[in-house]
Amino acid sequence: MRAAIITSSDSGYAGKREDVSGPVIAEMVREAGYEVVWQKVLPDEQAMLEEAMKEICDEGKADLLLTTGGTGFSPRDVMPEATLAERMVPGIPEAMRAYSLQFTKRTMLSRAASGIRKRTLIVNLPGSPKAVRECLEYILPQLDHGLKILLGLDGECARK
Ligand code: MTE
Repeated sequence: MRAAIITSSDSGYAGKREDVSGPVIAEMVREAGYEVVWQKVLPDEQAMLEEAMKEICDEGKADLLLTTGGTGFSPRDVMPEATLAERMVPGIPEAMRAYSLQFTKRTMLSRAASGIRKRTLIVNLPGSPKAVRECLEYILPQLDHGLKILLGLDGECARK
């Protein structure tokens, strides 16, 4: 499976702050067997984020697109709005928020979204490396099954 990663950060894009969360995602997905084929730091600009989403999904560049940052309440946080999903997958952010309540009640402030565009699953993760780790280690093992169904590699779910 191929993974793409977008970090949304004005200061990261301007070179004023190191992107730590993007590399954390890259390391975790590589450990899970994904190939990271596309990775960029972009500013919190909806048009630029949408353009990157279209490039990755519409050109079939990756099976999984993970984003970090831009899901909070700041007026510049526009990642959910830029997530151009054609079919929403609410269960993934619901699960991340429910699981994350044990770490911080502030997870209820996360606006993260998830959905499918063409043959790519898009998942918004929070901005901090700590939050990325906590959320990704919880959801990552479950994504494989969904991606295989999306790609037509898995048919029926095994009934146990
Ligand atoms: N989720 C986990 N697992 N751990 C965290 O520390 N921090 C949250 C949250 N989700 C957090 C988390 C905080 S403080 C906020 S404001 C929201 O998600 C929005 O995240 P973002 O602005 O970093 O995208």
